[in-house]
Amino acid sequence: MPGRFYVTTPIYYPNDRPHMGHAYTTVYADVLARYHRLIGDDTFFLTGTDEHGLKLQRAAEKEGISPKEFVDRMAKIYKEYWKILNISYDRFIRTTDPDHEEVVKYALNTLYKKGLVYKDVYAGWYCVSCERFYRASEYEVINGEPHCPIHKKPLEWVEEETYYFKLSEFKDFILDVLENKEVVYPRDYAREVLGRIRAEGLVDISMARPKDRVSWGIQLPFDPNFTVYVWFDALLNYVTGAGYLHDEEKFRRYWPSVHHVIGKDILWFHTVIWFSMLKALDIPLPKRLIVHAFITSRGLKMGKSAGNVVRIEDLIERYGGADGARYILMRYFSHLKDIDVSVETLDSAYNSELADTYGNLVRRVGVLAKKKLGGRVEGKADETLGKAAEEALKNYLKAMDSFDVSSAVTASMDLLREANAYMNATRPWERSDPNNELYSVLEAVRLATTMLYPVIPGKAEEVARALGFEIVNPLERGYGEWESYDVVSAPILFRKISK
Ligand code: MSP
Repeated sequence: MPGRFYVTTPIYYPNDRPHMGHAYTTVYADVLARYHRLIGDDTFFLTGTDEHGLKLQRAAEKEGISPKEFVDRMAKIYKEYWKILNISYDRFIRTTDPDHEEVVKYALNTLYKKGLVYKDVYAGWYCVSCERFYRASEYEVINGEPHCPIHKKPLEWVEEETYYFKLSEFKDFILDVLENKEVVYPRDYAREVLGRIRAEGLVDISMARPKDRVSWGIQLPFDPNFTVYVWFDALLNYVTGAGYLHDEEKFRRYWPSVHHVIGKDILWFHTVIWFSMLKALDIPLPKRLIVHAFITSRGLKMGKSAGNVVRIEDLIERYGGADGARYILMRYFSHLKDIDVSVETLDSAYNSELADTYGNLVRRVGVLAKKKLGGRVEGKADETLGKAAEEALKNYLKAMDSFDVSSAVTASMDLLREANAYMNATRPWERSDPNNELYSVLEAVRLATTMLYPVIPGKAEEVARALGFEIVNPLERGYGEWESYDVVSAPILFRKISK
C-alpha cells in the first residue's frame, strides 16, 4: 500500500546566500522526498525562508533598503540556488506569506486564550545571529564579556517588557515524549535534551518583542505594541505548509506523516518549544524529527560568522555539476558525528566512486552494447550478480527507510562494484555473442542508477536515456525484470579531477 510522506527542511534565515551547510540539509530532505516518490508514496516536500526578526531587520538596514525589499531579493536567490541544485520542493514557504501570518496570529491567540501567556519583564544576553537568549551556564566568556558559544560574537544585553509562554507547564509532557516516544532520530539527541531539562529544568520563555526594538515581525494579535518572537513565528511554518487553517483536507492528508529534518543547532527549539506549542494547540507531534550533525571546516561549524564557508557554486563547479555536488554531500551525510570536509576526501570519493566505479561502467557497457550488438541487448540475467543485486537493494531500502542516506549510497556502490567485477571476469568484449553478459551488467546498472536516482537525479535520467530504460519503482521491477535494452549512446558521466 502506498504510504504518505511529508518532509520539511528548517526554513533558512535569508540574511545571506545559502552555503554548503544549508545545501547539506536541503539536499538530504530532497533525497528523502525523491526516494518516497520513487517507491510510490504520496509525498509533500516543504522548504522556505525565515524572514522576520532582528537579524533580517539589521541586514536590510545595512543595505539601506526596507526589510520587505531585502527578503524579496533574498528569497529569490534561495530559489535560484535550489533550482540549480535540483531541489524538488512542492512549496517554498516564506514567513511573510499571508496564509502563514494568519496561522501565526491564530495560533498565538489560541495560546493566549488558553491562559498560556502572561506579561512580565525580561533581562538577558541575546545573540542576534541565533535569535535567542543565552544563560550564564551556556555562553562563553571571552575577555570578560559574554559571547555566543556558536558564533563566538559578543552577546547584547536586553532588558524589556515581554510576553512569556508558559513552557514550564509542559515539562512532564516533554520528558515523557523524549523518554518514551520514537520521535527524535537518532535517539541520542533525545537523551541530550533530556539531560539538559533534568539539569536545568524548564523555564517560561519570552515569545514577543517590543515593536520599537524589533519592528520587523508579525504583530502580536493581542497587543499591537509587540511583534512575535521569530522562533514562534518560524516553527509554525510546518503546519502552514501542510494547509493548517486553510486547507483542512490537505492538513489531514500530510500532517500525520511529517518528518522534520534539522541540524543539531536547532534541536532545543524543535523539541522543547515546538512540541509544547503543538501540544498547546492540540496538534499531534511530528512523526519524526531527523537530526544531523554539522559540516565543519578547519574544525569549526561552517558558517558566515566563522568565515569558513564553502560556496555552493564552487562545489558544483568542482564536482561536474549539481549531481556531483549532491553526491559528495550525501556520501558524507552524518547524523551524530561532525564531518570535517577536506578537498582530498571529497575529491577521492568523487573520482573513485562516481567517475570510476559508476561512470566507467556506464561508458564501458554502453560502448560494448553498441559495438558488439548494435545497441540491442536481450538476454538472460546472471544468477550470482542477481543475488548481489537483491542484497544491495535490500540494504538500500533498509537504509533509506531508516533515513541513513550515506549507507544507501554505499549499497548502490556495492552493486556497481559487483557489476564491474562481473564484467572483468566474463570479458564480454571477447565473446561473439555477449547478450547475456551485457544484459546482466545493464540490469545491475539500471538498478544501481535507480537506487542513486534520489541523490543524482540529473545523471540518473541521463543514463536511463542513453542506455534505454526508465527509472521506476525498484520494488516493482527488480533485477532481471527489464525485458531488453536499446542502447542509444555511451555517455561520459563524470570527468575525473586531476591533482
Ligand atoms: N531560521 C532558523 C530555522 C527555523 S526552522 C523553523 C535557522 N536558520 S539557519 O539559516 O541558521 O539554518 C539553520 C540550518 O542550516 C541548520 O539547522 C542546519 O540544518 C543547516 N546548516 C547550516 N550550517 C550548517 C553546517 N555547517 N553543517 C550542517 N548543517 C548546517 O536556524
